[in-house]
Amino acid sequence: MKNTVLTFKQNKEQGKKISMLTAYDYSTAKLMDEAGINAILVGDSLGNVMLGYEDTISVTMEDMIHHGAAVARGAKNAMVVIDMPFMSYQTSVYDAVVNAGRLMKEGRAGAVKLEGGKEVCAQIKAITDCGIPVMAHLGLTPQSINAFGGFKVQGKSIDAARKLIEDAKAVEKAGAFALVLECVPSKIAEMITKQLAIPTIGIGAGGGCDGQVLVYQDMLGMFSDFTPKFVKKYADLGTIMKEAFQNYIKELDSGAFPSEEHGYKIDNDIIEKLY
Ligand code: KIV
Repeated sequence: MKNTVLTFKQNKEQGKKISMLTAYDYSTAKLMDEAGINAILVGDSLGNVMLGYEDTISVTMEDMIHHGAAVARGAKNAMVVIDMPFMSYQTSVYDAVVNAGRLMKEGRAGAVKLEGGKEVCAQIKAITDCGIPVMAHLGLTPQSINAFGGFKVQGKSIDAARKLIEDAKAVEKAGAFALVLECVPSKIAEMITKQLAIPTIGIGAGGGCDGQVLVYQDMLGMFSDFTPKFVKKYADLGTIMKEAFQNYIKELDSGAFPSEEHGYKIDNDIIEKLY
């Protein structure tokens, strides 16, 4: 069954966890969809894990549309949420609406996600007023990495925790249908989850959230540049992939691949006529 904003709402009401993973291409999205994931996030983390940038700042609208559309083609039932990249919504409400519209029309998203609290509530309201569902994102918001001074847990002091709770309430009031909480103390995430009617999706925010999201290369052991504490590895595909690549190289060297079974046949009399 197709997952929509209603699935998110119903799951929260029924205490059923919402499952979400990132994906950036058709075949991965198809596998996740077949596995029964509720939602796929085409995160701007693609800057790190797909494009090799050290942060998400350089990711463009074109990147998000290109990868988003590929994911949308592979996701039959999962809801596809596409991240609004850095400076595609912060600059003005007008830019936010136009770019959210592009992610829906060209990227075939089911919803968009943007980072920030009170300061982006006008954008959240304007986008939702156009009939585009918005997922908000608070805590460690990677597009503000330069302002934070690094990847650090957020909301640990009394003022920071209060601000986080106020921002969470503000994005809900502005119309967000769900809220990602990244790298915040579990107890604060649990408090926010209890105080909001919309579901929270945690990443490094403990088990008290209504759902969880992980970057798929992290949970499959495919990305070794940096692994945050909150990641659980469900498989070590990185090692399996490297071994497969090494075996392929070895078999090319030894002549074991390609063997006869991997080739195409032709009648001998045709070959003879060629001489
Ligand atoms: O870009 C991304 O993958 C994200 C998740 C980490 C929530 O925003």
